[in-house]
Order: sequence, then structure tokens, then C-alpha cells
Amino acid sequence: MKFGHFDDDNREYVITNPATPWPWINYLGNKDFFSLISNTAGGYAFYKDAKFRRLTRYRYNNVPMDSGGRYFYIKDDKTIWSPGWKPCKTKLDQYECRHGMNYTKIKGEKDGVSAEALFFVPLNTHAEVQKLSLTNNTKSSKNLKLFSFTEWALWNAVADMENFQRNFSTGEVEIDGSTLYHKTEYKERRNHFAFYSVNTPIDGYDTDRESFMGLYNGFHEPQVVLEGQAKMSTAHGWSPIASHYIEVDLQPGETKDFIFTLGYVENDEDNKWESKGVINKDKANEIIAKFNTSDKVDAALAELRTYWDDLLSNYTVNTGHEKLDRMVNIWNQYQCMITFCFSRSASFFESGIGRGMGFRDSNQDLIGFVHQIPDRARERIIDIASTQFPDGSCYHQYQPLTKKGNNDIGSGFNDDPMWLILGTTAYIKETGDWSILDEQVPYDNDESLAQPLFHHLTVSFDHVVNNLGPHGLPLIGRADWNDCLNLNCFSRDPNESFQTTENKTEGSKAESLMIAGLFVVYGREYVEVCRKLGKNEEAERAQQHVDNMVRSVKAHGWDGDWFLRAYDFFGNKIGSQENDEGQIFIESNGWCSMAGIGIEDGLVEKALNSVKEKLDCEYGIVLNNPAYTKYYIEYGEISTYPKGYKENAGIFCHNNPWIIIGETILGRGDQAWEYFRKICPAYLEDISELHKTEPYVYAQMIAGKDAFKPGEAKNSWLTGTASWNFYTISQYILGIRPDYDGLIIDPCIPADWRSFEATRKFRGATFKIRVTNPNGVNKGVKRLSIDGEEVEGGNMIPLLPKGHYTVEVELG
Ligand code: BGC
Ligand code: NOJ
Repeated sequence: MKFGHFDDDNREYVITNPATPWPWINYLGNKDFFSLISNTAGGYAFYKDAKFRRLTRYRYNNVPMDSGGRYFYIKDDKTIWSPGWKPCKTKLDQYECRHGMNYTKIKGEKDGVSAEALFFVPLNTHAEVQKLSLTNNTKSSKNLKLFSFTEWALWNAVADMENFQRNFSTGEVEIDGSTLYHKTEYKERRNHFAFYSVNTPIDGYDTDRESFMGLYNGFHEPQVVLEGQAKMSTAHGWSPIASHYIEVDLQPGETKDFIFTLGYVENDEDNKWESKGVINKDKANEIIAKFNTSDKVDAALAELRTYWDDLLSNYTVNTGHEKLDRMVNIWNQYQCMITFCFSRSASFFESGIGRGMGFRDSNQDLIGFVHQIPDRARERIIDIASTQFPDGSCYHQYQPLTKKGNNDIGSGFNDDPMWLILGTTAYIKETGDWSILDEQVPYDNDESLAQPLFHHLTVSFDHVVNNLGPHGLPLIGRADWNDCLNLNCFSRDPNESFQTTENKTEGSKAESLMIAGLFVVYGREYVEVCRKLGKNEEAERAQQHVDNMVRSVKAHGWDGDWFLRAYDFFGNKIGSQENDEGQIFIESNGWCSMAGIGIEDGLVEKALNSVKEKLDCEYGIVLNNPAYTKYYIEYGEISTYPKGYKENAGIFCHNNPWIIIGETILGRGDQAWEYFRKICPAYLEDISELHKTEPYVYAQMIAGKDAFKPGEAKNSWLTGTASWNFYTISQYILGIRPDYDGLIIDPCIPADWRSFEATRKFRGATFKIRVTNPNGVNKGVKRLSIDGEEVEGGNMIPLLPKGHYTVEVELG
């Protein structure tokens, strides 16, 4: 069953039934000021950091689901309704929500009145702009009462929901004409405030929640709205809100627009006040003035559209497969921007208070984003590397506001350092900007410890080399990519988190075959970087370590039909036919296959065949099999999940691409495509009821074959799945892959695809690429020509001056 449809021309998903199986959300803003918005206008706004600078309040995991947002209430005689259906839930005559690229339009119609609300954050603006258009479609005049509503969060989202003994006394507001200001803590250590304004005189307002709502009323029945009269309340402590009251008279056929601006301002310390106790509103007034007419708002939206036209023009395809094209051209790239912005911090599954920017996560996010805005990728790489420790180990996460490592989450995840090599080399391959390696980058944010970025790559590489276990394989530390394979935890205490509890590595023999494969892949990248820089001795040294690792994997990491997953604390095998449960895992088979370890002896082929046989199912490739059915204290969190969910045999969409890339290395294009399609959201639209999360973005996990409800997804939006799938489809299946000295074209496609076209902008040049497959092969470039001239014996487009080129590629 579907709840809407794609509108590819407008790059929108159109939801036509508000009661989606889960709130289907969108993100407004892609730099500094952000909002999350659901299809019923739920969600919240924050500045830079969802934990430290939360602007509006949201109630997670609430009843009803998705409580708190920016709500409009329309009172039309005795009927009260909201354009987004919620919170009133008055049955609408018509409803439509269009989620587009960083904007959302929600339209509701009731008793001849239509209300269309546009929500977006204009480029380079610290505000969410809301344009509400009310139209009277009846033959008689309408006297409506309009109420806006938003609830302020007291800045620190954690304190906001726990420290009530203080919070209920701190709230402060100011009211100035049609603008309602939230200034809690402004007079002490904060130089920032928020405001909610409307571009028209108002007939009333409320800023105190209890006065507006009534103490025992829900969002669907605010007392002020029921009574049709604002209370003109001024909040003193308790819960400050902002609500405008406007009386709207509409003649038959008449439309009136109202522009609301929800903004954030920072003032200089010595310019904070207009007069004693009165905040300096200059910057707020500037923002308000910028968007105070419909023309200005429409122009800003058009600018946002152009911005996205531009971003998405860097890579476009025409494969003739509608669903694939819309994912590659629109939604997958869009999701990559979102994961770049938020890492794993704020979604409807991530509360914004738990996790900041992940070291491994943000590095991986870059591979789906770097072609969009390379400069922002560059800045991110430096930010991430600045949190690294001098020995190569890393804080697992850092806070976006402070850019400092997050001590609460700690470190010790031994895969973390290697991902920096991925992020950095992806950037250089895209841009050719080798100068990034000379950039002085601090360790642990301490400038006095700064070294060139290249040094960070060296210590990343060496962190693996310096932490090898008894089989010469990488020690796992707290965990590798799989946060839940906690081999040094031995936790018996339900009150401790597996992620942060003591990491008892002393005497541990726990080694990871996943990191081994990762090390071979990115160790080779490191070697190549060294060679390009003429650091041949270092390249030699590194190459030897990589070769040793390959030998160790072959000697101690092969289980007969697939790669082992790990050795535990005591040196026992994990992911082996010797085990009762968890005999085979996806991660090590993915990475060792990508590394091509033992490919000459058929190991990769065998491993991937075993994956197909044991891990594949109708909805994707599960993480391990058989699923764990009891708690193994020596394995940790992985065995805490019920079978089929999350890291215990869920379909972890993030790592399906590792197998897919492995398949493309073997040249098995049909298999690669089958795996790709299985988890690709646009292909799952028809089973939305089961899939549950948005059909336009990837979810982190789909319940696996052992689960109670196979096929049901969770954790949409913020997942490495976005960038890995884009990377896989664009660079390995369609095969258009940036490299240091050119653009490699090496597709691996289903045999029955006869052709496809792509446009790729690369280092200033634009390539119109047409790939034909007259003989129905999976892989192998027979001929490549640029503007009619054949390129001798290769599949690489060399670096060319700015301009437009036509590239013909023939497989066969
Ligand atoms: C989840 C992981 C996640 C980790 C981070 C675990 O409970 O299963 O997917 O990465 O928490 O905190
Ligand atoms: C989600 C985390 O964000 C990511 O870092 C981790 O690799 C996966 N879960 C798997 O545990």
C-alpha cells in the first residue's frame, strides 16, 4: 500500500494520506540553522547543535506519536482544524504534503477554506520561514481566527527535559508588536535569543503555555483556540511559547498570505542590549525585513531550488529505470547531504541529545557528498582529524557546536582511524587538491600538537599496525564498525551501556577480520598516496604491513567457505562453522572481498557465494546467521537484540553495499544489481505499510529473515547507508569513479541492460557519458572515446581542461 507518490519533475515526494505508518519527515536548512519537519508539521528547530542549541521543544516517543511542532490552528465558526491534520486531527476535505529539497509544503482544505503552508530555511539564513496562504473557495465571506503555535526549548535539550526545578523559573520573553522573543538566560551567559514573528499586525498573542493550552489540555485542544480569544499572556518561568492570534476576513475567492519567521540571533557581548533589560533586536529585524513579503519569500525559495539544481547536476543518470533514476538523481544524493550535515545526531530515531558527529560516520558520509560541495567536505575532514589523538586513536564522536571530542562517548573503537584515509582520499580524488595534506591539523584540538594532515593519515595507518593481536590481525578494541560486537566488555550490569562501559582490553586476544579487510583496502590507498607524494620509503614500509595483513588473513581468517568475523577475548573464533550461532557475518566477508584477499585462489567467490546462501533473504542481506538467541556475555550488545533486529541478524543496509562492491569486483553485475534493488527505498514504495519508514530515503535497518516482522524498517535518514549506496551505484555499478588522474569508467551492470547515460562534472569539465552494452556482458570496457577520439587501451578519462565532452563507452 502507498501513502503518496513521487513527483520527479518537482523533486518531491507527495504524501496524500496524513496517517503514514510512521511520521515521514524532511529536513529544512543545510547549514547552521536546521529544522526537522514531519508530514503533519511536527518536529523541531536548532542552531548548529541539536543538543546544545535547541530552539523549539519536541516530545520524543510520545502519545500520540510526533508531538510538538509548528502548528497552525484555524477556527472557522465552531470547527477547529490544522492544515497538516495534526494536532487537531479534524477530518480534512483534502490533504497533501510535499517534501522537497530542503522545503516542505503542507496543504489542507476544510469547508471551502484551503490553507497551504510552505516551510523552508532560506540559504544563508538563521531562520525558518513559513508562508501560510489561506484561500476562501466558497461563495460567501469567511471570518476565520488563525492561531500560530510553537513551544520554546530552553536551549540545552538535555537540561530542558530534566532540570525542571530550575527550568520552571528561568523562562523569559519579550513582546514587541508582531514579534514574540524568547530570551531565557540572555541576561546571564547567553548572547543569543530566538523569535517568532509574523508580517502583519496581530490581534493578540500568548507566550505562556499554560495560559494558551490550559493545564490539562493537549495540543489538539488549546483553550485559547477553543475560546477563540488570545489571552495576551507574558511568560514568567514555566514554559514559554509563541502564539500569534490573527482575525482573517476572506471574501469569496480571496487569498491572504501570512509570513511567519522563526529565527535565531547572536549578539556581540557589548551590543546585547537596546536598553536595560531590553534585548537588541537589530539583527532580528533585519531577518524579518528580508522575508516580509510573498515576493521575497518566493524569490528565496526559487534561490533554494536553483541551489539544488546546481548541486544535483554534478551527477545525473538516465538508465531508463525510473525508480533507480529518481534515487540517483534526487533522493539518494539529497540524503547524503542530510547525513553530511547531521551525522547521526537528529532524526525521529536519534534524539539529537545522544550522539554528535561520529568519527567513522562522518568520514563515511563524505563519500556520498564530496562531489556536491568539496569545500565543505574539506572543512569537515579537518574538523574530524582535529579530534584525533596523537597515537592515531580517536574520540568516537564530537559535538558540532564546540567541535570538541565528546568524552562521554569515549574512544577505543579500533576501526575509527582507518576511515580518515577513506574520507581524505575520496576528497583528493574528487578535487585533485593535494594541498589538504599539508594543512596543519591539531591533535585532540590542541594547536600546539598540530601536524600536517598527512601525519594524521600515518598515525591512522600505524594505529592498526601498533595494535595487532596474536594472529597478526587487528585488535578490535571497544568494537569495530559493528558497535555491538563488544568483545572486551563482559557486562553483567543492566545499568551500564555497552557503548561506554569499561573496555577491558588488558590481556585480550579479540581481533577483527573486518578491520583486517578495511586495513588492506585503505592501507593500499595510503601506500598510493605515499607514492604520489614521492615518499617511497614510507610507501615500502606501509606496503609490507599490508602484505603481512593479507598473509595473516589467509592463514588465520579463512573458515573454509567464508572469512571469519573475529577472535574473541580468549582467542576463540567468531563467525565460524565451529560456532552454534553467528557462524557467518557480512562485515568481514564484505571487506575481505573488497580487498580481494585470496581472490586468486577463489576465496572471494566462495565467500560471496556463502553470503548469498546463508545471509541473503527477500528484503536484503542480513548481518549474521544464525541469529543469536541468547545473551553471550563475551560478545556483548549484539546478542542483546532479539533475533532479526539491528546488529543481530537485521538487514543492516549500511553494509549491504560492501557485498555489492565485492560482487562488482568479481564482475557479477546481475547479482550486484539484485542486492542493490532489494533495499532501495523507491523500489519498496508499494509495501510502505510493511516497510514503515519513508519510501524516499534509506533506513539503517530492515528487520531480517529471523525477525518477528521481516521487512519492517527502522532508523531512517541518518545512516551510512545513504553514502555507501550512492557510492556503490554511482562508482561501482554504473562505474563512474573519480581517481587521482582522471575519471574511471568501469560499469558492472546486469547483462540485459543495453545502455545508459550519465552526466558527470569532474574537476571543472562536464562529461556526457553514454555506455552501450551490445553483447549483453556484465563488465569490461572494450572501447572508450572522447569526442570521437578513442582512448588507447584504457577505461579512464584523463584530466581535461574545462569544457563539455562527449564520452562513448562500449562494453564487451
Ligand atoms: C546500536 C548501534 C549504534 C550504537 C551507538 C547501539 O545500540 O545498535 O547501531 O551504533 O548503539 O550508540
Ligand atoms: C550505527 C553507528 O552510527 C555506526 O557507527 C555503526 O557502525 C553502526 N551503527 C553499526 O553498529
